[in-house]
Amino acid sequence: MAKAKTTAFFCKECGYESAKWAGQCPACRAWNTMVEEPVAKKENSRRATSGTIKQVSEPVKLSDVSIEEQDRISTGYRELDRVLGSGIVSGSLVLVGGDPGIGKSTLLLQVCQKLASAGHKVLYISGEESLKQIKLRANRIGEIRGELLFLCETNLDDIEEAIKKVSPQVVVIDSIQTMYRDDVSSAPGSVSQVRESTNILLQIAKGMGVSVFIVGHVTKEGVVAGPRVLEHMVDTVLYFEGERNASYRILRGVKNRFGSTNEIGVFEMREQGLMEVENPSEYLLSGRPEEASGAVVACSIEGTRPILLEVQALVAQTNFGMARRTAAGTDYNRVNLLMAVLEKRCHYEMSRYDAYVNIAGGVRMNEPALDLAIVLALVSSLKDRPVNPKCIIFGEVGLSGEVRAVSMAEQRVREAVKLGFEACILPQVCLERMQKVEGIRLQGVRNVREAIGLI
Ligand code: TYD
Ligand code: MG
Repeated sequence: MAKAKTTAFFCKECGYESAKWAGQCPACRAWNTMVEEPVAKKENSRRATSGTIKQVSEPVKLSDVSIEEQDRISTGYRELDRVLGSGIVSGSLVLVGGDPGIGKSTLLLQVCQKLASAGHKVLYISGEESLKQIKLRANRIGEIRGELLFLCETNLDDIEEAIKKVSPQVVVIDSIQTMYRDDVSSAPGSVSQVRESTNILLQIAKGMGVSVFIVGHVTKEGVVAGPRVLEHMVDTVLYFEGERNASYRILRGVKNRFGSTNEIGVFEMREQGLMEVENPSEYLLSGRPEEASGAVVACSIEGTRPILLEVQALVAQTNFGMARRTAAGTDYNRVNLLMAVLEKRCHYEMSRYDAYVNIAGGVRMNEPALDLAIVLALVSSLKDRPVNPKCIIFGEVGLSGEVRAVSMAEQRVREAVKLGFEACILPQVCLERMQKVEGIRLQGVRNVREAIGLI
């Protein structure tokens, strides 16, 4: 009889499973991510230890299912509620990913604090920090009132017991990479452990109607499986991102079964923990140099919200044969493309210049509506002529140098008016379609050359 297979190869990035090793993962195309791991034992599908969790389900009509508004709990943070799609859905599994040290534990502890003072029962399970460490952090973010319980534990069977005993409404698992199950023989943090542990949490969440937040560290190297391995198992995936040395953090929805993705929440890391930033535009534009060449204010739509930001470009004569190009906070290939458009359609000799493009404030924005702003910032820096600091610019640029329409033009213009801008350069098509907005001079352009003529 053939020997039963005991190990398999898993991709640390995406969790792809394969019988043989490969240098490149066939699924996500990452290199050197396949590792050999024991396969999890198949057990009886109705778990013996948790007879109550897996209920026998019966088919029902959708019309018999009732939805109540109370099924959603507000987190107390408007920024987070928006990303979740107006609050936490009971019985949902939310993954919060991000680089180590970005503030995931701080955010979730603050959410627990708010939930507990609003009268909800919350259980915070940490596998990384001792109770003393948590207490130190809690002291920084302020007083904790209400029913917030802590547990330092990494064994999932014990955690399951604890959840059953306490029966909280919300559970936080601080770092899935520290959790393990006895019946899986690989080390905590390995692909199969992370997957199997999440599976149990999924059963707990769905079976008991508990909302579970899972923290997952993003790791580039090392033996720890990344959160992408479990993206498909959870209901909602949020990524917490930002420059570690800049103080603001962006919470971005990547997947959401209960609301729109691409919503963002903006927070600022202070001495006393994370604070919400209600008006990100004002925040991103603060400290902007007036009268500097190469700086242009653009408007990007994130989810349903228009956000104003500053696009900076620096164009300098190249010293070597190869021109250098960098793009921080936006797509590198897009910047190259826009420079090719400038070269071909407007006859600027861009290949003789190095170009550096940056979105100020350490945020990442990839909307095509930023194209026109990037182009004008490049030209402004090349000519060393500042653009009117009270003017905002948006529009998509096509390969033949035409300026194309973007969505939600009116909202963008209104946001600009709110922040005191006096002029706006936008696609002509958008100008023709939108209603009149008071208090701002609108200039429609059809192609890049017209736009350059305006500044
Ligand atoms: P943390 O939540 O521990 O990160 P993660 O759980 O994602 O690994 O955040 C740690 C960082 O946050 C640390 O560098 C210090 C900073 N911080 C503050 O600036 N202010 C605060 O009040 C707290 C609690 C942390
Ligand atoms: Mg942490």
